[in-house]
Amino acid sequence: MTKRNPIISVQHVTYTYEEAAHPALEDVSLDIGEGEFVAVLGHNGSGKSTLAKLMNALYLPTEGKIFVRGMDTADDERLWDIRREAGMIFQNPDNQLVATVVREDVAFGLENIGVPHDEMVRRVDEALAAVRMTDFAESAPHLLSGGQKQRIAIAGILAMQPGCIIADEATAMLDPSGRREVLDTVRSLCREKGITVVWITHFMEEAAQADRVAVVSDGRIRLEGTPREVFSRVNEMRQMHLDVPPMAALAAELREAGMPLRADILTVEEMAEEVTRLCPSN
Ligand SMILES: Nc1ncnc2c1ncn2[C@@H]1O[C@H](COP(=O)(O)OP(=O)(O)O)[C@@H](O)[C@H]1O
Ligand SMILES: [Mg+2]
Repeated sequence: MTKRNPIISVQHVTYTYEEAAHPALEDVSLDIGEGEFVAVLGHNGSGKSTLAKLMNALYLPTEGKIFVRGMDTADDERLWDIRREAGMIFQNPDNQLVATVVREDVAFGLENIGVPHDEMVRRVDEALAAVRMTDFAESAPHLLSGGQKQRIAIAGILAMQPGCIIADEATAMLDPSGRREVLDTVRSLCREKGITVVWITHFMEEAAQADRVAVVSDGRIRLEGTPREVFSRVNEMRQMHLDVPPMAALAAELREAGMPLRADILTVEEMAEEVTRLCPSN
């Protein structure tokens, strides 16, 4: 992969909550390249939300530094620039919607920063189109599905023209179709509009779709690499109470049993190909 300029650079960050005996994050370093889709995967309590809040300057590092497009998150004067550059989506879609009409909800952040009316209308229309919710512009947000509500929350962030979206378990409260819909939306924003994505999740199936995965456990990044690299480390993943794609697990078992399969199998198609290669039918 080509080395891209980091839009977010986390440098040796430790974060300890007030009165906590142990740091929630310890010596974490992670660069997020411009246009990349990076998944942060970890079990409950591993430190993912703490990391998200540090990236968005909701918390400041106890030790270490974080830069968002070169801006130090500890620099008070850049706080709003940082938050605009790195927009956050959270788990509960209902907590993120503020207006009674979708269009107004998407415009909310723009109104707060005093964007002129014509430009506001244009940006709201573009953002709704980007999440494929144009037809719902005049709807009441509370009547939408969970997946649609998250897409509206994403549109509200897009309207602010961020370089990066940080999604903290944005699909955790959705049903499977809502999960797919929201992940597909964000993936296409990354691919088509070059928006950088930090996708925080405990679902390994979602992390498997990222360009790169950072696995967090007990406040540290334990593994980092492409989904292939990370999910081929089946035993380490399991020690961290994380699952791997079924075909990666099967490949590991077959290798242990002596079958010389490729180590980085993720999908059924790849497994079928490898098995065919090793056991030609005639
Ligand atoms: N406000 C808080 N005060 C004290 N400890 C906290 C607070 N929030 C989280 N923690 C602790 O920090 C650790 C990491 O939590 P968190 O970042 O929320 O993990 P995750 O998002 O991966 O579930 C956990 O041990 C959690 O109990
Ligand atoms: Mg969390």
